[in-house]
Amino acid sequence: MSASADLKQRLESANQQHLLKWWDDLSREQQANFEEQLTSVDFDLIRRLLEKGSGGAGESIAAKAERATPPKNLVRLADLTADPDLAIDADKKGRELLAAGKVGVVLVAGGQGTRLGFDQPKGMFPIGPVTDRTLFQIMFEQVLARSKKSGVKIPYLIMTSDATDADTRSYLKSENYFGLDESDVLFFKQGTMPAVDDREGTLLLADKGQLSVSPDGHGGMLGALANANLFQELESRGIEYLYYHQVDNPTAIIADPVFLGLHVLRESEMSTKVIAKVNAGEKTGVVVDVDGETQIIEYSDMPTAVSEKTDSDGDLLHWAGSTAIHVFDVQFLKRIAESADGLPFHTAHKKVSHLAENGELIVPDEPNAYKFERFIFDALPMAKNALVMEADRSKEFNPVKNAEGSDSPQTCRSALNLIAVDWLTMAGAEVESGTRIEISPLYAVEPADLDEKIEPGTHYSGEVILK
Ligand code: UTP
Repeated sequence: MSASADLKQRLESANQQHLLKWWDDLSREQQANFEEQLTSVDFDLIRRLLEKGSGGAGESIAAKAERATPPKNLVRLADLTADPDLAIDADKKGRELLAAGKVGVVLVAGGQGTRLGFDQPKGMFPIGPVTDRTLFQIMFEQVLARSKKSGVKIPYLIMTSDATDADTRSYLKSENYFGLDESDVLFFKQGTMPAVDDREGTLLLADKGQLSVSPDGHGGMLGALANANLFQELESRGIEYLYYHQVDNPTAIIADPVFLGLHVLRESEMSTKVIAKVNAGEKTGVVVDVDGETQIIEYSDMPTAVSEKTDSDGDLLHWAGSTAIHVFDVQFLKRIAESADGLPFHTAHKKVSHLAENGELIVPDEPNAYKFERFIFDALPMAKNALVMEADRSKEFNPVKNAEGSDSPQTCRSALNLIAVDWLTMAGAEVESGTRIEISPLYAVEPADLDEKIEPGTHYSGEVILK
């Protein structure tokens, strides 16, 4: 069967007719699948993104970064210590919101996790300091513990992608969602974007009847929520706030009452947690204000000289590193999802394996293609009263990004261990140096949970599992 005239015409007018080179080699089923994939591509959008990528439109982010200032609408750790009532009021408000069933949690777990190099979805990575408790398990147990504490069932929205969907679903089902009701675990799948050759502007093929595509970034969450009718679902469940976190950080305090409370007390539409950067060169996005709007600038877009700026005390001016932990008003997200432009796309220059004209698979050594992604943090400048809250890095930001070195399983396990030692010590226990401890969130989801469980003076050594 030959390709439909309509498809041929679309590809010709987009200068992408090479994609049909192997059409006649494909089975009918492969042709149908390929046609469906090609039809879903917005060639006009790709053209515009390529033009923008080559400096076509607007001021560069680097230029904006030059006039960035530290975020103004900010609660620093020192503010919470200096004014205990601020923390107490926020905590109370947050617990009220949770108990009223107004909070849902969303986990984005669609990334390919290339840096870690694990052959399953990253959430299935074993990270417990003593057992093989996975990232997913720690997160699901946190949501369950918080639900029980709040006396409501907190819905847990899980974003997957083509790369992670099937394995994530079957793993979580086989684990009975770690105790959450199946009806409270709401899966939704993000979309994809094609990879484009950096010289020709042509879409690349992964196979004869398959485009080379990748997930469309965590910002794909908005379109994906809308496509899965989840805004409606959230509204029907009375959910007004979504607590967002990422699959790589098991020390994120999921549905933290203080953060939720501050978000609402400060009438913010989107709030974000930050940590103080360790040095100017740390590879993390930075939260800043530009022309009165709060936004996150990726480290790769920040000129070194701007990263290195200091204030009058000699401290880093742009100190506020992003943790990718946010709270959103659901109506705010819905508004952006329904707007014509939505979130902008970012272009990245990457190595993408693809089929050459002679049918051979090329595995490039150097970046050869553009990939396009949306970032959820680009919603920040669109939010009213965007609020920035500082968190303690050692307690809340220990992501698993790399296989070794910084932000690796090893650093993350040590952090989980240290947090457990800290909690037990606060509860009056004595923990011998070198003790390995794992506390299930079902045993304690916050330090105060240990007060009634741990006898002061209890001695811990060796390997300890509290669950
Ligand atoms: P990262 O930016 O660290 O990307 O994702 P990654 O794909 O997990 O890892 P690398 O860069 O390939 O090594 C941060 C968070 O955003 C999610 C990830 O699953 C992770 O929770 N994410 C990222 C998505 O859900 N979808 C995407 O398209 C990209």
